Amino acid sequence: MSMGLQDIDSSSWAQLEVAGRSPNSAFRYVNFCSVDAQSRPQARMVVLRCADKLARKLEFHTDARSPKWLEISANPNVTILGYCHQTRLQLRLTGTVELHAPESQVAEKAWSKLSPHTQNTYAAGPPGDGLAFDAADKNAEPAPSVTADGKANFGVLIVKVSMLDWYQLKRENNQRALLTYTDSGICASSQWINP
Ligand SMILES: Cc1cc2nc3c(=O)[nH]c(=O)nc-3n(C[C@H](O)[C@H](O)[C@H](O)COP(=O)(O)O)c2cc1C
Repeated sequence: MSMGLQDIDSSSWAQLEVAGRSPNSAFRYVNFCSVDAQSRPQARMVVLRCADKLARKLEFHTDARSPKWLEISANPNVTILGYCHQTRLQLRLTGTVELHAPESQVAEKAWSKLSPHTQNTYAAGPPGDGLAFDAADKNAEPAPSVTADGKANFGVLIVKVSMLDWYQLKRENNQRALLTYTDSGICASSQWINP
């Protein structure tokens, strides 16, 4: 039985909400794509920390010293791409990012819920900087030294989704639908499109 457009909206967001809570969910790890200062596309995996169907928002955590933070500060347009191998469903979400800088209210609240292990991952040197280690020592592994209080580097990215491109792979008949959302999160349009 094929789904209606309204079902597509609710089931896609239900799956995203589950992913925000459950580490084993297919959409827990998604591709976060931004555009850099040279207009080149940049993509990286991130953990979906929370999804809010009513507000059409997705939450991610990152280091505010990372290249992506700088890219998004200059250009807040992003695409989030996920794929569930089991159900053969691709979700492509387009939107703009609100940055919540270290020690902002939103960042403080999210920080307080992180495990000490995760908090520690923000305490090393700036992401992407060179790492000194003894390559001559065969047993040595490159490991960043923890130098600072990670909280000062911890930022939250909230993506406000304006468009969902839903793509269902099917053996006989691939299906695709496009949904748009208003600023207040209402589904403004939905239509089937050619896959
Ligand atoms: C499965 C997986 C999950 C990741 N989750 C995050 C994350 O939630 N936040 C983050 O900033 N980086 C995460 N990373 C690292 C990023 O993919 C990326 O390599 C790093 O953030 C540097 O990105 P940038 O140089 O574009 O800023 C993850 C990597 C993997 C492989």
